[in-house]
Order: sequence, then C-alpha cells, then structure tokens
Amino acid sequence: MAKQEFELAHRLSLLQSKFRAAVPVVDYMPTIIEMPPRHLDRKSAWEGLESILLDIIRRFELKTDRCLEFGVEFGYSTVALSSFFKSVRGVDTFQGDRHTTIIRDTYQEALENVSPYDNIELIRSDYQSYVKTDSSTYDLIHVDIIHTFADTYACGLWSAEHSKCTIFHDTESFPQVKQAVSEIARKTGKTFYNFPECYGLGIVV
Ligand SMILES: C[S@@+](CC[C@H](N)C(=O)[O-])C[C@H]1O[C@@H](n2cnc3c(N)ncnc32)[C@H](O)[C@@H]1O
Repeated sequence: MAKQEFELAHRLSLLQSKFRAAVPVVDYMPTIIEMPPRHLDRKSAWEGLESILLDIIRRFELKTDRCLEFGVEFGYSTVALSSFFKSVRGVDTFQGDRHTTIIRDTYQEALENVSPYDNIELIRSDYQSYVKTDSSTYDLIHVDIIHTFADTYACGLWSAEHSKCTIFHDTESFPQVKQAVSEIARKTGKTFYNFPECYGLGIVV
C-alpha cells in the first residue's frame, strides 16, 4: 500500500459520496489467464495484468483496432497491449512523477523497448495537452499516470468518453485512483469492475 497523501479534491469527493448512492464495484474474475506473445523483460508494477488482457477483450467483446495508453514509463504495459491491438499509441511526459520509483527521463529507453514492434507509437506529451488534440475514439484506453484523484478523474473521464472500455492501474494501492474510477463510472453510467490483484485494475465499460 502506497503512503497516504492528503489531496483536497479526493477528500471532497469522499465527502460528496456520503450523500449519494454508492457506485457498485463488481469483482472481476478472469476465466482466461494467458501470457501474451509479447513481453518486456523488465520489472514493472504492471506484471501479471498482461495475462488477463485477452479475457477483458473477450468478456466485453472489444474490437482490437485502436488502443491508447496514458502512462508508458519504460513500455511494459504498452508492449503487452501491442500483442492484441492493431495500433497502440502511448502518451507520457517520460519525466516520471512523485509516485514513480524512478524519476528520470525514460523516453530513450522506452523507445528502444518498443522498437521491435511497428504497431506502437510513442508521444511525448502530458495528457492535459494531448486530449486537446485528439477527438477520435479507441477500443480500449489504459490510464496509469500520476495517481492523484484529480488527474485520474480528468484523464480517466476523457478516456471513458472516448473508448468502449477504459482500464485503470493501481485501484488497490491508491485510494485516490479507486475513488476517481467510481466517480467516472457514476458520471458516465458505465459499470466499474475491479480486479484486486497486481495492485488493482479498474475496468470501466
Ligand atoms: C506508473 S508509471 C506507468 C507505468 C507503465 N504503465 C508500466 O507498465 O510500467 C506512470 C507514468 O505516468 C507518467 N505521467 C505522470 N503524469 C503524467 C501526465 N500528466 N501526463 C502524461 N504522463 C504522465 C510518468 O512520466 C510515468 O512514466
């Protein structure tokens, strides 16, 4: 569990939730657990989640043309996603943030890690600037940026409105992320599934 940090937007959202109907969180139980063909051989908190991607795609009958990711770092999740989607676009500042263990420029390493796969495109940008330039839709969007309530909510709401399915890493290790995912499900009328392993994966569909 990550160290708790005070965030006013998170506390306000928790307070507002007390006066609203609870958003149901459905336990996600995968039936297919299978390693994808592509795998980046380096440590990542995402490890394990690659094995349930096929299950998510089949369960929610997702098309596999376009995938977008916010939060690439070294490209672990990006490479895993590229096993299934015709194109994967990864957006990251590549500067790290206060929740990542490694804070340095990861762009060159990420580029090298994804270089064997020609269906991956990396874009160096913050999500705030990127979303102003893209009005298209995706089959799946993955959100794994700085784990504040405000950023997860802003980036995640845009993502839920621009994809059939949005997945969020760290719903168990960061209460801010879980609260943001709940509020996104409430706002969009979508369902919040939660896979509690591997630090938690929220699925809004
Ligand atoms: C937890 S890491 C991503 C891990 C990656 N998904 C993996 O599989 O290992 C979070 C990343 O989000 C990026 N990030 C943080 N804030 C961002 C923002 N506002 N816009 C875009 N990227 C951001 C950081 O640079 C960092 O690389």
